[in-house]
Amino acid sequence: MTSKTYDGGMKSKAMLKLLAGLCLVAPLVGCTAVGAQEVRVYSGRHYNTDRQVFKRFSEKTGIKVRLIEATGISLVERLKREGSNSKADVILLVDAARINDAANAGLLQPAQSNKLKRNIPARYRDPSNRWFGLTRRVRSIIVNPKLIDPSTINSYDDLSKPELKGKLCLRKRKNVYNQSLVADQIVLKGQAGATAWVRSMVGNVKQPFFSGDTSLIRAVGQGKCGVGVVNHYYLARMQAGDNGKGDQELAKNVKLIMPNPAHVNVSAAGIATSAQNKREALKLIEFLSSPQGSQALAGPTHEYPLTSQGSSNVLKQYGRFTPDNVSISAIGANQKKAVQVMAQAGWR
Ligand SMILES: [Fe+2]
Repeated sequence: MTSKTYDGGMKSKAMLKLLAGLCLVAPLVGCTAVGAQEVRVYSGRHYNTDRQVFKRFSEKTGIKVRLIEATGISLVERLKREGSNSKADVILLVDAARINDAANAGLLQPAQSNKLKRNIPARYRDPSNRWFGLTRRVRSIIVNPKLIDPSTINSYDDLSKPELKGKLCLRKRKNVYNQSLVADQIVLKGQAGATAWVRSMVGNVKQPFFSGDTSLIRAVGQGKCGVGVVNHYYLARMQAGDNGKGDQELAKNVKLIMPNPAHVNVSAAGIATSAQNKREALKLIEFLSSPQGSQALAGPTHEYPLTSQGSSNVLKQYGRFTPDNVSISAIGANQKKAVQVMAQAGWR
């Protein structure tokens, strides 16, 4: 768990005066007490590049951002433990499962904002206004074209074809990304349909289940698996060279297929129930959900912004995707059922 403050190197004289008088010489809590603006963000997004976006927000508004990072599960656990003593103003998490979890645990309070309604398509925000999607990720299919003809796979359904026996690799059941994919398919196919699909798909798996999307992509690149399912940005990172030369080379052996229609998930934020800086919290979420804010958050991590499809060369080669019509809240509501279906089918 790390904590860092970004004041964005504020340049205006008034702001410098304000900071010198109120913040820089006073401990943080005292600083808040005398009226300086700040917002504390508990983030499960473990991306260094988010710091630049917070800095930009600080420069624009004069509101300092204090960032506390942890993985999704431990962040929610920490917030539950802290209860009403929590110092969190904004909670930022990845995946429908985690943000719904936080909302159901009472960690988020509703926020009314026309800006948020304008910025965020309805399917990417909570119908009760407790959380708001900020960036998008696609659960995509990857193949090694030496082993599998990419033109034979267009949809998640194709992963259950008997021709793929022994060639499919999947990540472990406990990871939320596949839970959300199965929840999505339960909404689309009904429980019986989704169960049949999961059973056939798991029947195609020969290798032990993987513990990460990146290790799965490497296995496809090395020809240990013919086909797999991963979030698109893990491959994008490898292709862009973010993980180093070795992974960039391996990624050349991997082709990404955008399933049509695609299961789209989000990273999302909400105002903490315990927030002491509610106004600043709302301002930050509004900023992050704006076309510029969403693009700034999504760009460096190779995610997709809320309302457009990525413009980087890596994302362009994936082509455009068509999201299915399942809302993030519907995915959250079917998460438990999804885990049961997966366990019963032998998805370890
Ligand atoms: Fe991820």
